[in-house]
Amino acid sequence: MTSVETNSIVAISSDYIRTSLQTLYGNRVTTSDIRGWCDMNNVSYQTVTSKIKPYKTGKSVWNLEVTPEKIEEIERNYQAPAVTPAVEQNLIPDKDDTFINFGNFTDIKKIIKSRIFYPTFLTGLSGNGKTFSIEQACAQLDREMIRVNITIETDEDDLIGGFRLVDGATVWHNGPVIEALQRGAILLLDEIDLASNKILCLQSILEGRGVFLKKIGKFVKPSKGFNVFATANTKGKGSDDGRFIGTNVLNEAFLERFPVTFEQEYPTPANEAKILSKVADTLGVDDDNFISRLVDWGDVIRKTFYDGGVDEVISTRRLVHILRAYSIFGDKMKAISVCVNRFDDETKQSFMELYDKIDGDVEVFVDTEENI
Ligand SMILES: Nc1ncnc2c1ncn2[C@@H]1O[C@H](COP(=O)(O)OP(=O)(O)OP(=O)(O)O)[C@@H](O)[C@H]1O
Ligand SMILES: [Mg+2]
Repeated sequence: MTSVETNSIVAISSDYIRTSLQTLYGNRVTTSDIRGWCDMNNVSYQTVTSKIKPYKTGKSVWNLEVTPEKIEEIERNYQAPAVTPAVEQNLIPDKDDTFINFGNFTDIKKIIKSRIFYPTFLTGLSGNGKTFSIEQACAQLDREMIRVNITIETDEDDLIGGFRLVDGATVWHNGPVIEALQRGAILLLDEIDLASNKILCLQSILEGRGVFLKKIGKFVKPSKGFNVFATANTKGKGSDDGRFIGTNVLNEAFLERFPVTFEQEYPTPANEAKILSKVADTLGVDDDNFISRLVDWGDVIRKTFYDGGVDEVISTRRLVHILRAYSIFGDKMKAISVCVNRFDDETKQSFMELYDKIDGDVEVFVDTEENI
């Protein structure tokens, strides 16, 4: 057996180590065999075990036999597969019968349908259908969508991918961005304004150029149809009024890579009534009168909010919450009350009083001095 003393400084191939170990100890080797070989060859234990990692079959045991399955497994490791292979999942969102086309939906759909790479930024207040519109556009066009909820913690590993431990071996796992690139899917970067500067790892992807996976030395090109949508409550410039705590000022060069920005408004009262009617149908609630009053109530609150009269707003999402609460409790005021409890006392009281004015059929406990 030739000593590899001098070779230990330069890279020793895993094949050399494997065959050398095999010659000495047979197919099945243990920690003590490896330590013995390391002493003989003046190579560190860590180096050897990392080189023969694909052959590890259990704690302190390696099977150095090269079976066709083993070759396949090694090749898979080298080709850096995702833990879940891309082809096996269907990522087309389900169609939702309650969805109503309003606002920017037609344009969003056109962009997706064009299959042109055209990163799109969708901004607007909370709960007005930004995420839902993109999801439903994909559902209607039979297009795959991968949604990534961005947080301050989101980093390259979460987006692009990294090494994961699978069955005792370290395997490259494609992140959602790579998955979307390869599949030609729509990548939805939801709540992008919560991101830190780590999001800048997406710069080349936002230019439509794909990305070089430096950890595995592989370049991934975007497939036809790949596109990026980002949603946010702000325009990536932070939130002056403090309503959207946690939002960050995004890097200017990052924002520059989105050619278009759509501003999503709340639906018109007519559209909102349609949405609530559809939701009511699914819940078995038959009360058009309640729906139209809720819509009017939401509309007045929004107008007051825009005029600076109140600090909070009632979103479409919250109106849907109220309708659901009504289907559970069977009591309008209770439904409204539990759903506006999230606001501070003053705002809650003013919202309840306003509803009382709009709907003569209900009575609200008004927090006046006589009542206290
Ligand atoms: N076009 C629509 N048709 C039917 N329902 C809608 C529509 N838009 C919004 N909604 C209702 O409002 C809810 C909130 O929508 P969505 O989650 O898309 O809001 P968002 O704008 O992404 O809010 P956020 O900024 O908080 O993420 C939906 O779950 C749905 O109930
Ligand atoms: Mg959303």
